[in-house]
Amino acid sequence: MQQRPAEIVDLKKDYVEGHALPRAFYTSREVYDHDIAAYWNQSWLWAGHVSQIPEPGDYFLFDYGPESIIVVRDRDGEIRAHLNVCRHRGSRVCVEQSGSARSFVCPYHAWTFDLSGQLRAGRAMGPDFDPGEYGLFPAQLRVFQGLIFVCASDSPPPIDAGLAKLAPLAEPFGLDNLKIAAKRTYPVPANWKLALENYMECYHCAPSHKEYARSHTLKAPEQMDRLMAPLQERSREIGLPVEEMDQTGPNAPAPGADVYYRRYPLYPGYETGSRDGHALAPTLGALTGLDGGATDIQVGPLNNFLVYADHLLGYRFIPRGLQETDIELVWMVRGDAEEGRDYSVEDLTWLWHVTSLDDERIIRHNQSGVNSHHFRPGPLADMEWGITGFYQGYLAMI
Ligand code: FES
Ligand SMILES: [Fe+2]
Repeated sequence: MQQRPAEIVDLKKDYVEGHALPRAFYTSREVYDHDIAAYWNQSWLWAGHVSQIPEPGDYFLFDYGPESIIVVRDRDGEIRAHLNVCRHRGSRVCVEQSGSARSFVCPYHAWTFDLSGQLRAGRAMGPDFDPGEYGLFPAQLRVFQGLIFVCASDSPPPIDAGLAKLAPLAEPFGLDNLKIAAKRTYPVPANWKLALENYMECYHCAPSHKEYARSHTLKAPEQMDRLMAPLQERSREIGLPVEEMDQTGPNAPAPGADVYYRRYPLYPGYETGSRDGHALAPTLGALTGLDGGATDIQVGPLNNFLVYADHLLGYRFIPRGLQETDIELVWMVRGDAEEGRDYSVEDLTWLWHVTSLDDERIIRHNQSGVNSHHFRPGPLADMEWGITGFYQGYLAMI
């Protein structure tokens, strides 16, 4: 359990339910450090996809705040996650963002760790030194249909029951057979919570996202309701279950164990999230066509996926500093799709590129207003219900 700084205890008292968080949650260095230690390090984080490390020795790093996690396929083909901190004097053991390795040799004094994290040799450490005591600290790992989640804590939020419920709903998308088609980072000078909160509500979509609002009904709940029944009929036809699942906020079995699944309609004329409404890539998994819907999947409070019938977007908001966040988007298509023949990166990324530029702008302005000493948290709208759910888990965990 993390020690709670006195300031956090006081701040929690200032929070009024149904309102935004008090200013210091977005401006205080102490809160930020505590966020990493008590929230990010205790949360499930989407690190990547199995297709990034097909062969033994393949690895990539997943970094946030001051932390770094090595995700690697070991000699036996098992995926493992290690904290990227040398057990000698703390250097990063692995400094390349991705690659293939036979072992990890610390660049400082050359302690050598095998792919499973064991220390093979500590150079010139004398006869009494037991390398068995100094393996890399493990991170927790779950591979859900090809999506790799890690958690730096020994006691991660109990997500397994939620994932088991999600499994049959997500199955038809064939998530384990995807490949990354594009990845883009939009750095925003704002606290990570403002970036995440912006993603959790579509109250801003109508005024802020011209292109997105043309195709997606999320910004207009009454239109979404009206188009839901016809969508569900089409979804069934292409082989998608139409159930919803909401284990977030007050419905989560434990703080941090949120899982969410809901498919909602695009406007007539849009088969997928594209500029002209037409398909962007081959249909995913076992689907037999495009139903004109989009699925929101959330695993833990920090990991969001938007799944169309022909591609998937992974969304995450990675803290790099108190008011430095990377909005990171990963576009994925079916594993056998070929660029140029089956999809074009420019067309595939168009919608969420322009939408993310809008988001970067509004989040940046949000932070600069919140930095003012005149900021007083105002009431949230009904359409911002997701934010209240996030606060509930967040405040419980910090
Ligand atoms: S810090 Fe890694 S070997 Fe010394
Ligand atoms: Fe947005």
